[in-house]
Amino acid sequence: MSYISGRWWRWKFRKVLLVALIQVCLETSVLSCQVDCNQVFTSPLGSFTSPCYPGDYPKSLACRWTLRAPAGFIVQLTFADFELEEALGCIYDRVVVSTGSSDVKFCGITAHGLTLNSTGNVMELLFSSDFSIQKKGFNITYRQVAVALRNQKVRIPQGAGQAIQASSLVTIPSLQMFTVCFEIARHKQRSTEKIFSYTSGGSDVLVFGMHGAEMALGINSVQCGLGTILNQSDFTATMKSFCFTWTSTSGRVNMYSNGYRTTSCTDSKLETLVDGGVFSLGGDRDSIDGDLYNFRLWDYAMSRTQLTELTCDVPGNVLDWENSFWDIPASHSQTDSTLSCICFPNCTHLTTAVPSSGTAIPTLTSPTTSCASSGMGCPGRTRVFHWHACHMSQFVK
Ligand SMILES: *[C@@H]1O[C@H](CO)[C@@H](O)[C@H](O)[C@H]1NC(C)=O
Ligand SMILES: *[C@@H]1O[C@H](CO)[C@@H](O)[C@H](O)[C@H]1NC(C)=O
Ligand SMILES: *[C@@H]1O[C@H](CO)[C@@H](O)[C@H](O)[C@H]1NC(C)=O
Ligand SMILES: *[C@@H]1O[C@H](CO)[C@@H](O)[C@H](O)[C@H]1NC(C)=O
Repeated sequence: MSYISGRWWRWKFRKVLLVALIQVCLETSVLSCQVDCNQVFTSPLGSFTSPCYPGDYPKSLACRWTLRAPAGFIVQLTFADFELEEALGCIYDRVVVSTGSSDVKFCGITAHGLTLNSTGNVMELLFSSDFSIQKKGFNITYRQVAVALRNQKVRIPQGAGQAIQASSLVTIPSLQMFTVCFEIARHKQRSTEKIFSYTSGGSDVLVFGMHGAEMALGINSVQCGLGTILNQSDFTATMKSFCFTWTSTSGRVNMYSNGYRTTSCTDSKLETLVDGGVFSLGGDRDSIDGDLYNFRLWDYAMSRTQLTELTCDVPGNVLDWENSFWDIPASHSQTDSTLSCICFPNCTHLTTAVPSSGTAIPTLTSPTTSCASSGMGCPGRTRVFHWHACHMSQFVK
């Protein structure tokens, strides 16, 4: 009796399991191409495909993908693969790309291999299919491209002879005072850390960084110790803004960061910085291991009030954080949407063409596909699961 009832329960259990598995199989096959194709992508680069790609796309689709880049970037889209139903005027199945200034319609294989740039920081792609004739659709890759140095920070190169230099087209005047401002984030603390230097004829005219055991400003052969107003621990992994002024007549060095601090460097009194030298971020060696941003230089010493009120977008009158002032290899510039001064004023530069120099591809890699998010019917994966589930059910019998 107990044996029979045990068998009965086992039989009953298998039957229930079988029914459940059949249900799963049916549901996954029905759901397999019900992909959410109304999505917004904000990653620096990625890819997405038409639903069920490389299988045929479903009938009667209406999809909208929005590619959104931070202000100061454009979106560059490439059709790595493209095949839609062909029709004159693309009246049946079509892709319409809104670049910001125009709408471009595609069907057949016309878009295969094509690259499109947005004019602003948003690109939209609409895809619709009708009730008959399906093709494999498309595979699209996209990336954000920075259009201005102000949307980029610079990784200070490490190692001798690798400093990032101001453009040779910029002439540094002779200076008896200056204001220098920059933002800096440090990755790893080192015993010697040069942040910037100005050299002429191979010798240092102005050096800012660790000297011996304290932060110092080297002016010609004079070392102005800054230990009372600055120390190494002021540099952190978070971008922070610093401004320094120096005045030859008084020999004073002032700093503005979180607050205003001032110190005297009497030995630097009446020194003059020669003109025509080369300005570098980092040093010839012993550079700080970190990122610099918004490095600006003025030929006068700002007052405490001026420093307090200075905003990130006031241009330096000797050096400014714009492409034309610097020779920065693309391998050292990085886009970063958290930088303090992107897109100002009014993001007007967004509509300008991508400059031939100074552009960089964001180095972040977080590719997204239409199958990356949970809760979406991913044809490949659900089919595999479906197959296993249905075969497993055979063993249950
Ligand atoms: C898109 O921009 C890139 C520069 O990033 C340029 O090389 C390419 O020619 C542009 N393509 C179009 C279609 O404007
Ligand atoms: C789409 O194209 C890119 C670039 O060729 C490729 O890396 C990616 O694997 C393709 N995606 C699919 C789903 O085929
Ligand atoms: C660094 O300087 C700040 C203020 O200038 C001070 O509060 C802090 O104690 C100093 N740290 C070290 C390790 O000297
Ligand atoms: C920028 O914004 C300001 C304030 O909103 C406005 O007065 C000015 O006209 C704008 N400039 C441009 C070029 O759109």
